[in-house]
Amino acid sequence: MISEISISDHMASFKITINQVIHVEVEADAPASLLETIEQVGVEPRFHCRNGFCGACRTKLISGTVRYTTEPLAYIRQGDILPCVCQADSDIIIEH
Ligand code: FES
Repeated sequence: MISEISISDHMASFKITINQVIHVEVEADAPASLLETIEQVGVEPRFHCRNGFCGACRTKLISGTVRYTTEPLAYIRQGDILPCVCQADSDIIIEH
C-alpha cells in the first residue's frame, strides 16, 4: 500500500484591484510596497519621496485595509492612503 503525504504550503494572498480594470494577486508577506506593486503591473503612479513625507502618491482606498510599514508623515485625508509606505492587508480596491 502506498500512502502519500501532501504538504500544502499556500501563502495567504490578497487581490488588489486598481482603477477597476487591473487585478493583481500579491502574497500577504511580500516585501514590496503597494506603490511598487502598482508600478510592477505597468501603472505609472504619481510619487516623489517614496517615504511617506510628500503625499504625492496619495491614492483613494475604495475598499479593504492596508497596513503601514513606515509611519506616514504626510497628511492623509479620510479614505486616502499613501501607497509608498503601505501594503495590502486584505483584498483592496484603489483608484489611482
Ligand atoms: S511618494 Fe511621497 S508620500 Fe508617497
